[in-house]
Amino acid sequence: MMHSITTWASALLLPLAATTAAAAALPRADGIVWGECHIEEDTSSLPVPVQCGKLTVPLDWSGKTTDKTIDIELIKWPAATQPAPKGSILLNFGGPGGDGLNNFVSYAPLQAPIIGDEHDIISWDPRGTRNAIPVICYNNTATNAELTTYLSDWYNASDTTPSHLWTEATVLSELCQNALQEVGPYVGMASVARDIIAIVDALGEDGLLRYWGISGGTSMGATVAAMFPDRVDKVILDGVMNAHQYYNSPVETEFISSADDVLRGIFNACIEAGVEKCPLASHAKTCGGLEEKMDQLVYELKYNPIPFASAALGSGGIVDYSILFNWLFSKLYVPKSYATVAKVLEGLFRRDATALVEAALIEAGASTPAAGPIIRAVWGIRCGDKRPRADSKEELEPYVDQLEANSRWFAHFGLASNAYLCAQWPFEAVERYEGDFTGVKTKNPVLFIGNTYDPVTPLVSARNMSSGFEGSVLLQHDSYGHVSFTTQKSNCTEAAISAYLNEGKLPAEGTVCKPNLPIVNYVTGEI
Ligand SMILES: *[C@@H]1O[C@H](CO)[C@@H](O)[C@H](O)[C@H]1NC(C)=O
Ligand SMILES: *[C@@H]1O[C@H](CO)[C@@H](O)[C@H](O)[C@H]1NC(C)=O
Ligand SMILES: *[C@@H]1O[C@H](CO)[C@@H](O)[C@H](O)[C@H]1NC(C)=O
Ligand SMILES: *[C@@H]1O[C@H](CO)[C@@H](O)[C@H](O)[C@H]1NC(C)=O
Repeated sequence: MMHSITTWASALLLPLAATTAAAAALPRADGIVWGECHIEEDTSSLPVPVQCGKLTVPLDWSGKTTDKTIDIELIKWPAATQPAPKGSILLNFGGPGGDGLNNFVSYAPLQAPIIGDEHDIISWDPRGTRNAIPVICYNNTATNAELTTYLSDWYNASDTTPSHLWTEATVLSELCQNALQEVGPYVGMASVARDIIAIVDALGEDGLLRYWGISGGTSMGATVAAMFPDRVDKVILDGVMNAHQYYNSPVETEFISSADDVLRGIFNACIEAGVEKCPLASHAKTCGGLEEKMDQLVYELKYNPIPFASAALGSGGIVDYSILFNWLFSKLYVPKSYATVAKVLEGLFRRDATALVEAALIEAGASTPAAGPIIRAVWGIRCGDKRPRADSKEELEPYVDQLEANSRWFAHFGLASNAYLCAQWPFEAVERYEGDFTGVKTKNPVLFIGNTYDPVTPLVSARNMSSGFEGSVLLQHDSYGHVSFTTQKSNCTEAAISAYLNEGKLPAEGTVCKPNLPIVNYVTGEI
């Protein structure tokens, strides 16, 4: 039976001894002391010296279950003149479960030139990430390797995969239940929304929120804007998730609605470029022909995976359906990867895995190996926020049908780690946004940005969310990929963001911003 638990108390697994702590007695956030940064990423690569700080906030903002506090860590890129003429803008990098401080080092340099130099640019580690109530269900790397390998299988890899995935998720939820007794309920977005308002207050400016959230950071931004509409100055939600589904649907089904179109766009661009510039075009005369090749490749990889063995690398393995699709889906986010996608598929259509192995090894070499405890922020945040639970995978099958109706190739992305795990998650967020994201009247209008062809946050979700925020405008960034500033660059989109943040001007309703270079340049690598 599908059940939905709406009151936090009914499922809270904590001892309730501390429930009498009065709200008035709670320690309140009162100021941030800024100093040097000590984080994993190298901040010296940034063009300005950044500062880091801490803010103490209650673990449970209601004060009902505990009077413990936690420290929220922040990072700041100071405006050129101080104090910042236009105040601070908070960045959130999504997930949910992406940290603020390390991601800042990658993303802030892309966003700062668009924002300009009159704002302090700030991010923070949302609860659940890095040191801020880390969600650690186990520390054993062998367990991690085993569970991660299973969970990375795609639902449709074989007819035994769904039951394996469901059972692996059962193991995980039991491990998490034991390990997260004291923190499980406190990492949800409503708690983070209160942290955000505490940060705004502690900054001692005008008490208003300036925020640019991407991807999962759009559900976060929609939540804080809907819970605190009178605090909204400028809020940009860029790469928009359907927050209704995030909270209320046991399986999020809308997110992959445009993913097939992204792959078709690559195929079309390759046919347009011709065989010389895009050898993938040698496999078919039309986009439809390449689509058929793709269907054949799926079948081939399931029933006849491609071997590779490299004496030079001293390693070998097989390329199967799940391995290719996990890699491919992540590449659809970033148009700069599309030339590699074309090259990899061209090889695989000939049963040659060299290009994929090379691409994957280069990436593996670039990322630092996991050290220390294994933090699974995304599970804690997403699953605690999600209301429905299920007792069996059969209950979720109607949603899987819906996913398959929305995408031919990518229907099953993340099904296990999001839906199957969340369906069995043992914790409920201590607080959730209780509204329905409609008729939200913010003090100042919100700017939504949606890409025309986004594999994971489709335009339809941006339209949906924008319709619930009165006076908001949806800017269509006419690009492939995920999030405006990491995709096809567009002077028009950048100017619109800058005008909104710096002059409070919204783009006209229905504005579509063309990218500077068409997709074909990305597919051929001429960028
Ligand atoms: C994992 O290790 C961290 C730090 O070493 C510790 O705080 C935590 O309790 C451990 N968690 C589990 C589930 O073993
Ligand atoms: C699932 O797998 C079957 C058998 O390989 C195939 O016929 C079907 O099209 C697949 N569906 C999706 C959505 O991948
Ligand atoms: C937005 O999405 C939710 C969840 O899928 C749906 O129930 C609702 O009708 C949609 N609203 C609009 C205006 O499209
Ligand atoms: C975008 O702006 C840059 C820098 O101002 C300029 O060189 C370039 O020509 C512009 N591109 C387009 C397509 O407008």
